[in-house]
Amino acid sequence: MSYALLILAYLMGSVSTAIITCKLMGLPDPRTTGSNNPGATNVLRVGGKKAAIITLIGDMLKGLLPVLLGQALGLSYGWLFAVGFAAFLGHLYPIYYQFKGGKGVATALGVYFGIHFWAGLSIALLWLFIAKVLKISSLAALIATLLAPLIFYFFTHSASLAGGMLLMTGLIWWRHQSNIKNLLAGQEGQIKINNQDQH
Ligand code: G3P
Repeated sequence: MSYALLILAYLMGSVSTAIITCKLMGLPDPRTTGSNNPGATNVLRVGGKKAAIITLIGDMLKGLLPVLLGQALGLSYGWLFAVGFAAFLGHLYPIYYQFKGGKGVATALGVYFGIHFWAGLSIALLWLFIAKVLKISSLAALIATLLAPLIFYFFTHSASLAGGMLLMTGLIWWRHQSNIKNLLAGQEGQIKINNQDQH
């Protein structure tokens, strides 16, 4: 049963909310515009607020729902992490899109919420706060995910769960290589909203 949930989580994670939302709303493909990343920040850049919020919620749900299913089945923290991680890997390496996916921040947030609500809320608020103050989405994601293992340890006292979160953080940082390069060069752009959905 738990193994079936791992596969289901990976298949759910592989569904790209960004690509589907943009297609349905007649917006440019996020893989070939802006930062070329199929994620909420890039959808905000190329398509506007409404499309970005749908993408953010959809990508979070991909991580959240399989973990909640695992909770309902009474799975341990270890299994819950494995299920969330499978969804997260689906987002990064989606089976439906030649294994070329996104950077994983929103899906990781969904996983955080599913495993431990208060840890998830703390990380999400931290992410929002940094994004609001610094207005750089990638930097907010990098800082919030860097602190995620510590926040999980604080709430759960589980070193192995914190270690799992560190692995997820490592992958998120790995996927943000181009953002990190731009940040170090002082060239990472501030959050830009395409206003086309406000007219
Ligand atoms: O969640 C992705 C975000 O951190 C960066 O996105 O499009 O600016 O590379 P982007």
